[in-house]
Amino acid sequence: MAQAKTVLITGATRGIGKGIAIGFADAGWIVYGTGRASTTLSDANTLSWATDRKIILKQADVTDQAAMAAIMQEIKETHGRLDCLINNAGIAANTPASSLDANETSRIIDTNFRAVFTCCQSYYKMQRKSGGCIINVASVLGLVGTSLASVYSGTKGAVISLTKALAIEWANSGFRVNAICPGFIDTDMTDMIKKRESLMQKMLEFIPLKRLGTPADIAAPAIMLASDGASYITGQTLVVDGGLTAQ
Ligand SMILES: NC(=O)c1ccc[n+]([C@@H]2O[C@H](COP(=O)([O-])OP(=O)(O)OC[C@H]3O[C@@H](n4cnc5c(N)ncnc54)[C@H](OP(=O)(O)O)[C@@H]3O)[C@@H](O)[C@H]2O)c1
Repeated sequence: MAQAKTVLITGATRGIGKGIAIGFADAGWIVYGTGRASTTLSDANTLSWATDRKIILKQADVTDQAAMAAIMQEIKETHGRLDCLINNAGIAANTPASSLDANETSRIIDTNFRAVFTCCQSYYKMQRKSGGCIINVASVLGLVGTSLASVYSGTKGAVISLTKALAIEWANSGFRVNAICPGFIDTDMTDMIKKRESLMQKMLEFIPLKRLGTPADIAAPAIMLASDGASYITGQTLVVDGGLTAQ
């Protein structure tokens, strides 16, 4: 029997990352995930979805490169290699561009872009001789503009460009690097939209498939991109948005 593959998903305690973690675990992968909040990570009741599937959650901030590199090293030492890294952790702001202060701006850039780069870098340095697979979770807001998302959109556009650049630079080392751009997905991040009924209605009218996406809708394409069948796909951006940006 083939050895189970390993995946590390950042921001796997909630939302899309949790959905991706469940999808990979149910597909037979050995799954590691991260999050910042110690309260979530120490509450056995709220974590039964993970423990039931033997998903191992670690507390680490993605902006802490040394901590993230140590988790990757631990996975390599325990299982022989880290087959796939999924950079999913991210934050949004919903603040008018003119009101974003320096701290908030840095926090968004550090989490959504700089940490994606440093995690990719640590993974590459650890496994440059044996290759790997990276999936970066960007956003449709990295492709199209909207109000109240200026710096967030900028970081997601940057992640798409970073994905292409690393795919080229590291192709000879056996790395594939792809991005997924979710549309509007039903998670804590979209609470602001869901709470405002008129805005939600407007949003649904705009989405051709007439519903928000679910974390499972993002897990399936991530599993596809991480599979051996996708061995000729690199540097690509897969949009998963119910048709939103096809119009
Ligand atoms: N929801 C959408 O409609 C949507 C659309 C397009 C793209 N995306 C992208 O998809 C990704 C996941 O979004 P989501 O909707 O699932 O968000 P979410 O429900 O707010 O969950 C965010 C996850 O990221 C973790 N996280 C945030 N900052 C972190 C940090 N500095 N270090 C470690 N973990 C951190 C959170 O864990 P802790 O709180 O425990 O730290 C949590 O697990 C993000 O990159 C987001 O930009 C989302």
